[in-house]
Amino acid sequence: MSAFATQHAAAGRRVVLITSGGTKVPLESRTVRFLDNFSSGRRGACSAEYFIDSGYAVVFLHRHRSLYPYSRMFSTINVMDALQLTSGDEASGSADEVLVNPQVLPNIAKVLKKYHEVKDGGLLLPIEFSTLSEYLHLLKAAAQALSTIGPKAMFYLAAAVSDFYIPASEMPEHKIQSSNGPLQLSLNMVPKILSPLVKDWAPQAFVISFKLETDAAILLDKARGALKNYRHQAVVANVLDSRRGYVVVVTPKTQDELILTEEDVKNEVEIEEMIVSNLTSAHNRFINQQAS
Ligand code: PMT
Repeated sequence: MSAFATQHAAAGRRVVLITSGGTKVPLESRTVRFLDNFSSGRRGACSAEYFIDSGYAVVFLHRHRSLYPYSRMFSTINVMDALQLTSGDEASGSADEVLVNPQVLPNIAKVLKKYHEVKDGGLLLPIEFSTLSEYLHLLKAAAQALSTIGPKAMFYLAAAVSDFYIPASEMPEHKIQSSNGPLQLSLNMVPKILSPLVKDWAPQAFVISFKLETDAAILLDKARGALKNYRHQAVVANVLDSRRGYVVVVTPKTQDELILTEEDVKNEVEIEEMIVSNLTSAHNRFINQQAS
């Protein structure tokens, strides 16, 4: 991650660390069961593409098997239905051929080309986590690695991180037995990682957290509360049910509502394009302020 950051910064590129997907909280050391959450990783995967289009290099810290940039567009497709087999002929020595059905994978050639350009250009560094503790360790390492490039680093914390966990010392080793009757769990609070990130690990970086609520009435107060507590640059506030079409970007001085219109939806515009455009402009201003 350090080499990735310094190499891109030296080439004049900004670097964004995107966190994406949910976190798994194990209930047993030899884990059979765990607590999870709803996050698909679409916000993070989709945003990664728009950041790359805007000239950024991306460290993509994502939950194992959550949505991934570019392939996310085909995530609901069964690969077996997307391929066609033409049997070869043993007698003439021709081999079986596998072809892609473009009706099942629309735009595949365009997306594949873009994916390989990004991969060959070394613009995307994927890093995987599954559990909460892996996430926390990797985020700290990433923050320290990106801190070397100062304000050119952006943190875009879109992962849905668990607020609760069972410490290793309190976790049973083996599978919890249902024969012991109903299960009562006592969970500890996960420390808010935003605090050391902003204060200690990457104090010069441009940091954006997300705020998710199910009750729209408390969303903006919570977002403003987070800005006040952690003193970072912006919060992207969203409500679970409307998150694909409506978010508010809150900064200490501004509040921008981003909304997809019916026309946008018809034209397959994605709200992440608006979020990334809003935040890259804010990042420009932030860098210019630091320089002056
Ligand atoms: O993945 P999708 O299905 O596309 O959904 C996208 C999303 C709804 C997950 C995304 O837009 C979003 O809102 N992500 C943040 C969800 C969340 O965890 O919100 P929160 O209000 O619980 O946490 C607020 C912030 O604190 C987050 O930026 C989180 O990274 C941070 N946090 C959380 C826990 C913790 N221990 N330390 C933290 O710093």
